[in-house]
Amino acid sequence: MPLKLPKIIGHRGCAAYAPENTLEGIHTAADMDIDWVELDVKLTKDEVPIIFHDDTLDRTTNGTGNMADRTYKELKDLECGSWFGESFIGIQIPTLEEALEVLIDRDMGLNLEIKPCPGREKETAEVALDLLSTIWDDHDRLLISSFQHVSLEVAHDIANDWHRGLLLPEEWPENWAELADYLQVSSVNVNAEHVTREQVETIMDMEKLVLAYTVNNPDQARILQSWGVDGFFSDCPDALQEGVFSVH
Ligand code: G3P
Ligand code: MG
Repeated sequence: MPLKLPKIIGHRGCAAYAPENTLEGIHTAADMDIDWVELDVKLTKDEVPIIFHDDTLDRTTNGTGNMADRTYKELKDLECGSWFGESFIGIQIPTLEEALEVLIDRDMGLNLEIKPCPGREKETAEVALDLLSTIWDDHDRLLISSFQHVSLEVAHDIANDWHRGLLLPEEWPENWAELADYLQVSSVNVNAEHVTREQVETIMDMEKLVLAYTVNNPDQARILQSWGVDGFFSDCPDALQEGVFSVH
């Protein structure tokens, strides 16, 4: 089952135009004819999978402190739009289930990044994949990725035939190639600012797809594409749509 991966994936939904990791961000990407979005999933204290990036609440909500110390109900009482702009005041942190419903309704693909709070690498993957298995049928439009090898190992063990992506930070771990092989990933997802042409070619030689995050500049996308990069995570997908890839 090949991965039906588009060139452009909306990063954290469509993070330049709507608050990151929200239902509004998914709709914004869909309205731009973006086929896939990337979303980050974490667990609440009572193990509800929610769409959220940071370990703490301060940057993107009106709450403070550690996200993992709050229950689902406590988190639903927060709002996560006013930091971004007045027109988003009052919106809530979505659950994974709510996000999946919107994605299915808008006929979109998903790169779900398992983004566990420290120490919850295994549970976050287990709970998220369990929910996905009950809701999501379109496995050629689903990519499970993580910086956390333990989370990818869970995905490998419980959903072996779903596509996985190994996320690499600025500094690649020495054993990244062994990890990519062992975890049987379909893609290696690299930091666009730090990757070299040689590294891109090494991944291509392994017959894995190369995805680059986060690319908002069309010139950078053009260079990376000329090296062989297959897809781009972008906060402003319209800039790449217009500047690099013609989608219509
Ligand atoms: O999955 C690509 C990208 O989202 C990884 O970094 O911090 O934006 O989740 P981050
Ligand atoms: Mg992410």
